[in-house]
Amino acid sequence: MYTTAFLTTILAALASAAPTTSNLAARDDTYYGVGLTIKTTDAFTQPPVYEPAPVEISVLTSLGNVSASEIKFDVPVASHVDVNQVECRAYKDDAGVVPGSAPFNAKTPAELSTNLVTVASVLCYVVTEAEKV
Ligand SMILES: *[C@@H]1O[C@H](CO)[C@@H](O)[C@H](O)[C@H]1NC(C)=O
Repeated sequence: MYTTAFLTTILAALASAAPTTSNLAARDDTYYGVGLTIKTTDAFTQPPVYEPAPVEISVLTSLGNVSASEIKFDVPVASHVDVNQVECRAYKDDAGVVPGSAPFNAKTPAELSTNLVTVASVLCYVVTEAEKV
């Protein structure tokens, strides 16, 4: 029968051998991302004005309360992901809890409004195959 002291020693050894980080993003340095293009003029203004927004995969990204009428993919900008397997959603708040768009992807842009609406953040993630949404 093991003594309590012996068990304590074993448990301490196991604990010190365990990985010290549970940060999944720290596992490799590869940048997975897509490039979005934000239309910052309303549907009627000519010529339209676009702003680039690089977005890392599976990282809620602040857009700084940008006024936008449409968000689309800048397809050639994708980094280490198949752009046809990426879907994004925009949010009206920095926490990403108030939906601001339908899911959108490289095939289907997010048509937010004919007027300008505030977009605070965006989240992009990989799906098996981006559907026409
Ligand atoms: C966006 O606007 C909200 C509400 O006014 C504010 O609380 C937040 O700090 C703003 N975020 C940024 C990044 O400017």
